Amino acid sequence: MLRLKHATGPAWLAKVLPALDELLLEQAHLEKKAASGALTFMFRYVEHEALQAPLSELAREELEHFEQSLAVLRARGIPFRRQRPGPYAERLLAIQRVAEPGRMLDQMLCAAVIEARSCERMKLLADGLSGQGEDELAAFYRRLVVSEARHHGLYVRLAKTCFEPAEVERRLDEILDHEADVLSRATALPRLHN
Ligand SMILES: [Fe+2]
Ligand SMILES: [Fe+2]
Repeated sequence: MLRLKHATGPAWLAKVLPALDELLLEQAHLEKKAASGALTFMFRYVEHEALQAPLSELAREELEHFEQSLAVLRARGIPFRRQRPGPYAERLLAIQRVAEPGRMLDQMLCAAVIEARSCERMKLLADGLSGQGEDELAAFYRRLVVSEARHHGLYVRLAKTCFEPAEVERRLDEILDHEADVLSRATALPRLHN
């Protein structure tokens, strides 16, 4: 259903599990960024009324995830602070066209792909954490996995209300190829998005 073209291998889990504090901090930042992304769409594309209510709901849900992530940090004594992001998002978004309406479609599909990748990796993380006796944290990630899969579907569905479905499918395929290429150039930084 997620249609990702690069399956995350065990090396990624081995890289991030020992850096759990950093990963949890990243999680909080990612949730806030996801909320901000949804709000940006709402402001930038006011003329697309069909986007407004679903993206408002999405932004609210992402902010709830942000607050839940902050609570996890607090419970583990990890201070919320600035963090160097992984290179993934910037490299992925480099494929976006500058001129409208291509820009809008690309932004929606990049958001969809980011949700899908988060979903895939959080599932791996949840399984890895269960094996380490971190059952509560694993359950937290499993709840997020369900949401991320739904968010992926939402962005693709909304794109198809604004653009020709065949065009959406064709461009999504190109962006998925690009995303697989981005991940083949991952750095050593322990991040969900790297
Ligand atoms: Fe989220
Ligand atoms: Fe999400």
